[in-house]
Amino acid sequence: MTYINHLSDHQDEVVTLKGWIYNIRNSKALHFLEVRDGTGLCQCIVSEEDVPEDVFEAAGSLKQESSLEISGKVVKDDRSIGGVELHVTDLKIIQVAENYPITPKDHGVEFLMENRHLWLRSQRQWAAMQVRNTIQYAIHTFFQKEGFVQMDAPIFTGNAAEGTTTLFETDYFDEKAYLTQSGQLYGEAMAMAHGKIYTFGPTFRAEKSKTRRHLTEFWMIEPEMAFYDLDMNMALAEKMLKYIVKTVLEEKKSELEILERDTNYLEKAVSEPFVRISYTEAVDQLKSEKTASMLQEMENDRNEELKTIQNELDEIKKEHGSAKKWRKNQIDQRIKEIHSRVDQIEEDLRNIPVWMESAKNFEWGNDFGGSDETILTMQFDTPVMIHRYPAEVKAFYMKRDPENSKLALAVDVLAPEGYGEIIGGSQREDELSELQKRIAEHDLPEDIFSWFLDLRRFGSVPHSGYGLGLERTVAWICGLSHVRETIPFPRMLGRLRP
Ligand code: 4AD
Ligand code: MG
Repeated sequence: MTYINHLSDHQDEVVTLKGWIYNIRNSKALHFLEVRDGTGLCQCIVSEEDVPEDVFEAAGSLKQESSLEISGKVVKDDRSIGGVELHVTDLKIIQVAENYPITPKDHGVEFLMENRHLWLRSQRQWAAMQVRNTIQYAIHTFFQKEGFVQMDAPIFTGNAAEGTTTLFETDYFDEKAYLTQSGQLYGEAMAMAHGKIYTFGPTFRAEKSKTRRHLTEFWMIEPEMAFYDLDMNMALAEKMLKYIVKTVLEEKKSELEILERDTNYLEKAVSEPFVRISYTEAVDQLKSEKTASMLQEMENDRNEELKTIQNELDEIKKEHGSAKKWRKNQIDQRIKEIHSRVDQIEEDLRNIPVWMESAKNFEWGNDFGGSDETILTMQFDTPVMIHRYPAEVKAFYMKRDPENSKLALAVDVLAPEGYGEIIGGSQREDELSELQKRIAEHDLPEDIFSWFLDLRRFGSVPHSGYGLGLERTVAWICGLSHVRETIPFPRMLGRLRP
């Protein structure tokens, strides 16, 4: 058996593939089967002349997602996906599929989510999961090369790490337990044993908001380093992200093409230094005249585009009636594209006034909302690192800025193109009495945190870390508009099955 992603090594040889029918076109003397095998897609041509009659007929009767074993000669063809096609000599059907619910026509996203177990087989979904895998592998490779030790934090926990409002509570033999929101507190303990560690595991947040950035179950990578200050922490985050993006650009070129990802910004993230601004500078920027006029310009551009595109739509609709079949197909395709672009533009046009208000009225001391982050990242070409947030909007464990006690030594990394926060991190409070004060201020029970306070009693050192959200990173790198397509089986408000 040969895999499709290795076919180009077998030019002019006869090979056998095992897979599924992705698409099928029949003509009188030829059947064109698009076969997928998990590693890629290959066009397989069954010609009446090359195979026995019963094989030719069997090929003609196949339906989408039927499974089969197919043999043939690998022939170079530059127009084909993967640069080769298969000239079929034999074919064995494993199972003739029933009518497959997901057809090449447009389906609504709700329908696709209900059929997530099947949707995963579609090209774009396949490509996104392939990129996800490469990102995961790149993260492990990066940290292992940098001398970090992977250590797993528990999933059942007895306390909150990131605030009490998003805890999932479970019953742990008559005791209350919570699904972990973050492995960080345990990571700190492990860093005091191993120096530089990272966790890579599922985390849970009872997020009641339906947004394109929120899952209730997501994967987080949390490095924690003894003797690192905030600057070292930021340098590490930048180096890691550059490594991840570079790896995907090198290894997942064709998947990014399937996803129609414009790789411009990704290339800039690798080659250019990330923007670093303080929270205070970011607030100034948000409220600036420049931001207001950028949004105004964006609104004008969208309105212009809407006019142009609607004129085109009117024109081609007129043409449709008298067009030849091939041209009709072209027009249908273009109409589909225009509709989806119009949806996007209309969404932008709904958003822009909201963004404008939110930016103009932003007050120092508040946390950035999704739309504020979107606006901020639209003004830069690389990821943006925003540091030194007001301590009030950040977690209890963050160290205060020695130069201004209102500020926490925090950093958020925002991905460009409107994606927003993908990393949250900080230098940690390493002073016992300060941390006790914070725990009290946040109304947290000190006894539950006594083990965490021990880390400040026995050889406390400056230390830092951050958390990278895997799904938001996949969304950004793949250019996906919603995190539901970045994980095999997303868990969100209102979505527990399949
Ligand atoms: O900013 P957060 O809440 O930080 C922490 O949990 C820290 N304990 C991390 C640390 O310093 N070790 O979350 C970190 C990242 C976010 O930047 C985001 O990418 C992701 O986790 N994230 C989510 N992703 C999907 N759905 C959600 N509901 C998420 N909440 C956070
Ligand atoms: Mg955060």
